[in-house]
Amino acid sequence: MFPTFILLSVLLFSSLSLSNAQYKPPLFVFGDSLYDDGMTLYNGVKGAGAEFWPYGETYFKKPAGRYSDGRLIPDFIAQYAGLPFLQPYLKPGLKDYTKGINFASAGACVLVELRPQTINLKRQINYFVEMVGKLKQQVGEAQAKKLLSEAVYLFNIAGNDYVVLIQKNVKKLPVSNFKKRRQMNMIIGNLTSHIKTIYNQGGRKFAFQNLGPLGCMPSMKYMLNFKGTCAEEPQQLARMHNAAFGSQLKRLQGQLPGFKYSVYDFYTSLYLRVLYGTRYGFRESQTACCGSGSYNGDFTCQKKGTSFSVCSNPNDYLWFDAAHPTDKANQAFSKEFWSGGSNLVSPYNLQNLFAAR
Ligand SMILES: *[C@@H]1O[C@H](CO)[C@@H](O)[C@H](O)[C@H]1NC(C)=O
Repeated sequence: MFPTFILLSVLLFSSLSLSNAQYKPPLFVFGDSLYDDGMTLYNGVKGAGAEFWPYGETYFKKPAGRYSDGRLIPDFIAQYAGLPFLQPYLKPGLKDYTKGINFASAGACVLVELRPQTINLKRQINYFVEMVGKLKQQVGEAQAKKLLSEAVYLFNIAGNDYVVLIQKNVKKLPVSNFKKRRQMNMIIGNLTSHIKTIYNQGGRKFAFQNLGPLGCMPSMKYMLNFKGTCAEEPQQLARMHNAAFGSQLKRLQGQLPGFKYSVYDFYTSLYLRVLYGTRYGFRESQTACCGSGSYNGDFTCQKKGTSFSVCSNPNDYLWFDAAHPTDKANQAFSKEFWSGGSNLVSPYNLQNLFAAR
């Protein structure tokens, strides 16, 4: 009798702790090409979606729908959180939504009129709401509610909105302060309403990578025919957006009970690596590994019928192509986002945001 009791309680205890150890809050990802892990491939636009060599060459050893030689920040974050690589929502045959899903797609903007052929943020949010219905069918209302409230919602978005603003005005720079502010207010207004949509579906834990130093991107320097380290006008746009969006998140925290968030200062982190590449292990921090033109800033990497060059060791490079970091750089950013101090990521880092109740 006694041994049976012990055996039973041991069994019960270990199965309880096992199920606890296996449960991880899901990760839902929204954004543009920095986070796209295949959505664009399934959207059926020819030539988009990083579908040809040399994309994927370092880690996946073949093109993997990701704009890098290897993994992206959401790949590393999923791994740190104990989750598998996330599936892109448009992948046919998906059945399990309990680990999270990736909705991010290359070229995406917040403002819907800017790039109509892409899966903009609004469409991503609509897909998310549709997915919530499927998740409820899969696991039931109560379990879905628990998953949605414990999930982390990770964003990288709005960089393209400002790239388009510069692109449209490239012959008449600088853009007036009035135009900049008007566009920024629309972007932050729409972003806010999308955050509230997720909140109303039960989401509580939000994480944002702020806008990177847009003026240091090889593609931006190529477009502006700029010779130097970073072009100031796009830099100023990114800083203006980051400051205003930071204040907006603080306001949201005051308005929405239970709303928690994390902002990673990607701007500073990437900017420091552009300026002082060698200190961070990047022998080349201005010219991209793959592409053509000045700084390899012409977006020809993988384009059929164009001539482009590819470096032999992407690990020496900060930029893999004209606008996207290498696997090695993404790993460094992800470590900071996951467990960095409050100078890099605040109020929560991702590790603490995942653990928060
Ligand atoms: C959202 O963006 C559109 C332009 O795409 C703009 O007309 C609208 O005012 C914005 N909404 C908010 C709440 O800012």
